[in-house]
Amino acid sequence: MDEKKIIFSGAQPSGKMTLGNYLGAIKNWTELQNEYECFFSVVDLHAITVPQEAKVLRENAMKLLAQYIACGLDPEKNTIFIQSHVKEHLELMWVLNTMTYMGELSRMTQFKDKSQKSEANLNAGLFTYPVLMAADILLYQTDLVPVGDDQKQHLELARDLANRFNNRYSPTFKIPEGYYPKGGARVMSLQEPTKKMSKSDSNENAFILLEDDPDTIRRKIKRSVTDSEGVVRYSPEQPGIKNLLDIYSALSGKPVDEIVKMYEGKGYGDFKTDTAEVIVGALEPMREKYLYLLNNKDYLEKIYSEGAQKAEAKARKTLRKVYRKVGFLERKY
Ligand code: TRP
Repeated sequence: MDEKKIIFSGAQPSGKMTLGNYLGAIKNWTELQNEYECFFSVVDLHAITVPQEAKVLRENAMKLLAQYIACGLDPEKNTIFIQSHVKEHLELMWVLNTMTYMGELSRMTQFKDKSQKSEANLNAGLFTYPVLMAADILLYQTDLVPVGDDQKQHLELARDLANRFNNRYSPTFKIPEGYYPKGGARVMSLQEPTKKMSKSDSNENAFILLEDDPDTIRRKIKRSVTDSEGVVRYSPEQPGIKNLLDIYSALSGKPVDEIVKMYEGKGYGDFKTDTAEVIVGALEPMREKYLYLLNNKDYLEKIYSEGAQKAEAKARKTLRKVYRKVGFLERKY
């Protein structure tokens, strides 16, 4: 049997997950789990590059793990783990740090943006964040990395570092490729549909959370900003309707054209009502499972502990090679 290709991805435990996070990432991951050997991490080490409250970070890590599973990632099929549990990520990061140029990191758009916004906490971790991400990816001999556009530059760094190490020493790392699924919908704000949906939006009506109850979802969709055309059409001039069509299509599996046909001659009212029901129908079972899992901490702890063991075994192999090639003495006992 052919060996399965390896996928690695991760998300930060930064609180609540939006419909945008689900459709943009997790839903695509669930479609990969049968074909690939997948590693999905809750990247808490990345999360502390911005100030965190310990108790909240712990809760958020549990919540994200519960969400991974509630959204359909099967802990039997995938390796699901907490990044800080596998110390090899930090060990490889150090080695990669010594091979990364200051200039490379200074050019990272995300660093430039963040450093402009949070000058009070311009810590070194924010700067070397992409090196940790490279370590995450390279440790597992990853073939494919599903990431959003905002992470492309970081993935490129991971590829550069892998090549640099392989050339300086000898072939050690697989060179990872980005994975950009076809159906990967980019979900926009419900209030300003030319902006990406974000949970940090000050207007709660702009986003839908995976943990929103059905009535909240219905209300948010009803209030979503559209236009005065009055025709359900997939057009950049009607970004609000276009966004709802994308959501409807991604969650129902129906092609956009088909949905457009269904609403010929009808107003936005019917379309919005149905869109809300499609969202409720998709999210409600996940929300129930999520709430159930959060009340089963023992189960979640078992999952993440087993995940860390599996991840560590794989990570260890790569790290051992790296340490040997770099010239560290082998520990004998
Ligand atoms: N930096 C990524 C983000 O914020 C999360 C992440 C960390 C990641 N390590 C990764 C994504 C490795 C893919 C692969 O979205």
